[in-house]
Amino acid sequence: MYPTSPYLAWAEQMYRDLPFDLATSGIPSASMADLDGEATLDDRDALPALREALARRYKVSAAEVVPAQGTSGALFLAYAALLSSGDGILIEEPAYPPLVLAAEALGLRVKRFPRTTEQNYALDPWIIARALDKGIRAVVVSQLHNPTGVAASHESLRAVAALMAPRGGFLIVDEVYHEVLKPRRTTRVLANNIVALSSLTKCFGLGFLRAGWLLLPPEHVPAVWEVIRTTVGHPAPVLLRLAERGVTNAETLAKRRKRLMAGKRARVDAWLASEEHLEWAAPPHADSLFGFVRHARPENLRAKLEQGRVDQGVLAVPGEFFGDPSGFRLGMTLPSAKLDTALRRLGQVVR
Ligand SMILES: Cc1ncc(COP(=O)(O)O)c(C=O)c1O
Repeated sequence: MYPTSPYLAWAEQMYRDLPFDLATSGIPSASMADLDGEATLDDRDALPALREALARRYKVSAAEVVPAQGTSGALFLAYAALLSSGDGILIEEPAYPPLVLAAEALGLRVKRFPRTTEQNYALDPWIIARALDKGIRAVVVSQLHNPTGVAASHESLRAVAALMAPRGGFLIVDEVYHEVLKPRRTTRVLANNIVALSSLTKCFGLGFLRAGWLLLPPEHVPAVWEVIRTTVGHPAPVLLRLAERGVTNAETLAKRRKRLMAGKRARVDAWLASEEHLEWAAPPHADSLFGFVRHARPENLRAKLEQGRVDQGVLAVPGEFFGDPSGFRLGMTLPSAKLDTALRRLGQVVR
C-alpha cells in the first residue's frame, strides 16, 4: 500500500472554507484569460512547444525537459526513473512530507539529514558529507526550503552535487518556490548531476492546471519516459498546451504574483516584532510566500491552531507536520485586505 500523508489529509480537510487562510503556500488562482490562448484535444505540437518554452525560460536545452503532473508527479518520476528499490536516499529534515513518502513507496532506503534552527535552516554540505553512506544515490532538498522559506546558497548546492558526482549520484532539488527568489532561473544549471523539479502551481497561481516538469541530464530522459509510459501514461496534449501557455505567459503571471504579494512582508515583519514570543528565520525575499514561525514556549501548538480555525476562522500549518511542534508555517498568500485581521487573530490563538 502507498504510505499516507497525515499532513496532506489534514490540509485537504482544514483548508476548506477558511476565512483567514494563513496556511496555503500558493498564490490564488489565475484565470484562463491569463493563459492568453486556446487548446485543442489532439494538439500534436503541444509537447515540443512546452519543452521549448521551458527551455527558453530557464536557459536549458529542450532535451533536458520532461513534463509531469505537478512537482509531486515530477518527484515520483525522478525517484522511479533514477533510483532502484534498496538504493539509499538522503532527504532534508524538516521536509515537505511527500519527499519522504514517495521514496518509501518506491522501496528506497530513506535517511535524513538536519537543517537546523541553530544554523537558520541553512543547507550544510558538511552535515551531508558525514551522513553519506555507501549506498546513497541521491540527496533531496527543497529550494526555497519548505517549511521555512530559507534559501540554500548556490555554493552549498554545488558542493552537495560535487559530493554525489563521484558515486554517479544526483542532487534532486524540488524548486517549486524558486521563482520567488530567482525568476527565470533553475538550480539545474549549477551542476550536471542536479535534477530540478518544479511546476506552475505555487508561484504562478495555476494550481488547478497541475503543470509540472523535470529538468535533468538528457541521458536520463528516456528512463523518465519509460516510467511515464508504464505508470501514469502520456500527459494529455490539451493540458500540455495550457501548460505551454502558462510558461509562455509566466512574466504576466509573475507580475500578478508581485501585485498580490506587494507590501505583505513588511506587515508580517511588523506583526512579528509586536509578538515578542514569536520569531522566524526570515525568508530571504520580500515576496516570499511563507515562513516558519517558532514560539518561545516549547508547546505543541496543533490543538490551539485547530481551535483557532473553529473560533476565529484563522489557520496556519502546525509545525508538528514538519517535525517542530512548537512552531507553525505561516503562509502569506491570502488576499491583502485580510492579512492584518488574520495575523491579529492568529496572534490571539497562539498566545
Ligand atoms: C516543497 C513542495 N514541493 C511540492 C509541492 C507540490 O507541488 P505541486 O502542487 O506542483 O505538485 C509542494 C506543495 O505544497 C511543496 O511545498
